[in-house]
Amino acid sequence: MAAGLEARGRTPAHARLRRRFLRFVPVVAGDRVLEVGCGTGVVVRDLATLVGRRGEVVGVDRSRLLLDRARELCREAARRPRIALRAADGARLPFAAHRFDAALAITVILHVADPLGVVREMVRVTRPGGRVGVQDQDFGVVAITHPDRTLTERIMHGVAAHIYAEPHSGRRLPGLLRAAGLDGIRLLTDVYQDTTLEPWTKTFLERRAERAVSFGIVDASTAQRWLDGLTEVVARGAFVLTLNYYGAVGTKPA
Ligand SMILES: C[S@@+](CC[C@H](N)C(=O)[O-])C[C@H]1O[C@@H](n2cnc3c(N)ncnc32)[C@H](O)[C@@H]1O
Repeated sequence: MAAGLEARGRTPAHARLRRRFLRFVPVVAGDRVLEVGCGTGVVVRDLATLVGRRGEVVGVDRSRLLLDRARELCREAARRPRIALRAADGARLPFAAHRFDAALAITVILHVADPLGVVREMVRVTRPGGRVGVQDQDFGVVAITHPDRTLTERIMHGVAAHIYAEPHSGRRLPGLLRAAGLDGIRLLTDVYQDTTLEPWTKTFLERRAERAVSFGIVDASTAQRWLDGLTEVVARGAFVLTLNYYGAVGTKPA
């Protein structure tokens, strides 16, 4: 999983949409920023660049293994402001109220059983007037060119339903922030687009095929036929994959 997060983070189209969202929040020099569900620290390193030496970045994750990897990678980051990485559950943040200028969760809420509980905690630790931002994919809106459209939908929707608490999380984010009591909610919709089968996309689709077999959605030979269909589309230069990302931001009322 750590390698997958880093590969996604390096993919140019993904880096662009992640950074566009951070500017949309916005995160500015001197900010104290919390990232919930920081994984290997892909976003933490972007945040460190944005907040500069006067700022502070705190990442929390419930996985100690991913945090260990994040510590190594963040140590390697050249220009480092104050970065702290801690094990914590987003639903019980170990911080005082009003501690941060901004609290963010990037591709995390779709994995969470109680999204409102996590967002309420993010609101609690943000100062009045500060920003709470969440960005997620929406697995109801994935377009892939493939000769077998029905099989593609069976695999993509079937696997998403198994692995995410809410596969349609993206479109629900503005409503989630409103329910958590935030003001001035804004939405940035962005698209991950790949026409060449980037390494991350290839691994993502291979993992979908593997998981479709392990969840009993298709058998191994059908999964292989599906992957062969993708290879054929790529060879024809006809491959397109798009995945929508929704980034919502609200302000904590004074
Ligand atoms: C898809 S990764 C995203 C990592 C990082 N935000 C990024 O964009 O590269 C989701 C992360 O959320 C973490 N996570 C999921 N539920 C969590 C929770 N309730 N509290 C803290 N972390 C959580 C997982 O351990 C994982 O590292």
